[in-house]
Amino acid sequence: MKKTIVAALIISVAGANAFAHSGATGIVKERMNAMSSISKNLKKIFVTLKDESEFDANIIASSSREIMTHANKFPHMFPEGSTKHPSEAAPAIWERPDEFSKKAQDLITYANELTQLAEAKSDHSAIDEAFGKVKGTCKACHADFRIKK
Ligand code: HEC
Repeated sequence: MKKTIVAALIISVAGANAFAHSGATGIVKERMNAMSSISKNLKKIFVTLKDESEFDANIIASSSREIMTHANKFPHMFPEGSTKHPSEAAPAIWERPDEFSKKAQDLITYANELTQLAEAKSDHSAIDEAFGKVKGTCKACHADFRIKK
């Protein structure tokens, strides 16, 4: 059911900007790399969840933990005015900092939830649901705070 939509979304999220950050330097490069890694890990979780025959909660736990580690760095990765080309960071990040922080916190919270469920080897549907929440945060933040170039 929803899985095809999810797959399309993941491919678009993960694949669209493979080389978009070439030429980026400093903090912009750092956070673009962090986002790319988040994206790769998200994809890994998605593939693991889809393959019910070889469902491995350990892979999900480690990928989710990695997402969390990157997300924890968000508060330091967006210094005001860091919009140097080829950054896609929107001015709204600094115009509505509370809202931006809240969206970053959502990712941390849900990735933490997913990590714990996977570590506890919870059942597939519970992990699936937690994954849905993690994935939802990407679009929720990008819609307002990322300018697709
Ligand atoms: C709190 C806001 C926020 C959340 C949550 C968020 N992102 Fe991002 N993301 C951004 C911003 C802002 C940029 C643009 C950064 C830049 O170009 O300077 C970005 C850029 C990206 C990029 C492009 C990187 C590049 O090299 O051009 C990818 C891929 C990405 N995000 C994936 C994800 C995925 C997958 C998730 C969810 C698991 C996610 N993001 C969650 C704010 C967020």
